[in-house]
Amino acid sequence: MRINKYLAEQGVASRRHVDEMIMAKRIKINGVIATLGIDVQEGDVITLDDQPIAVNEKDAEYYIMNKPKGVVCTVSDDRGRKTIMDFLPETSGRIFPVGRLDYATEGLLILTNDGDLAFRLTHPKTEIPKTYMAKIEGTLTEKDLNPIRSGVEIDGVLTKKCKAHIVETNKSYTKVHITITEGRNRQVRRMFEAIGKNVEFLKRVSIGQLKLSGLDRGQVRKLTQEEIAYLKGL
Ligand code: URA
Repeated sequence: MRINKYLAEQGVASRRHVDEMIMAKRIKINGVIATLGIDVQEGDVITLDDQPIAVNEKDAEYYIMNKPKGVVCTVSDDRGRKTIMDFLPETSGRIFPVGRLDYATEGLLILTNDGDLAFRLTHPKTEIPKTYMAKIEGTLTEKDLNPIRSGVEIDGVLTKKCKAHIVETNKSYTKVHITITEGRNRQVRRMFEAIGKNVEFLKRVSIGQLKLSGLDRGQVRKLTQEEIAYLKGL
């Protein structure tokens, strides 16, 4: 059966979404990048971003985690470092992070095996606001943040407009709340690097209306039905 029809029938994603994921080279069948219109057989291992995807809506699982720093956002690590899987209940199935946090960054992470939701939440068009608390080395003024707000160049591409304001500043450090709608690799750290500043500590505190509050470092809980419905409506 055609891959888009198969995954749509299994409730993973609409046919159009499957095609978009294939064009973005995010889907593999048995380790090989899928092509549009390819057929799949019973028993094929289908992955999205190298993680197995759920094939049944009733098996879908959704978690929120407060990722500690010093933990890798992958299912396994060839360097033997701690991964987010070390914090999940053993009963959880094959789930994967939606939009990663880098090794040194802590905070709010969503995990699921719902390929359609993962696809929509990470699609550049979705533009979900993600807020971070960044502790920057040295003193900063509101004016220093203007380039960050209007867009700085990362890998030759300007970052989108974003919100940023100073929460606290003194001679040794400045705390900034920054809200971005993109999810480029190490984006917040690189935005500050672009204005010559070093991020000493970074924590994601919210994704849309979903807040980290109430979860200790390393703690995980299932998302409520309301939270799942909210994310699906984004
Ligand atoms: N920005 C970063 O620099 N790191 C992250 O993990 C997320 C956003």
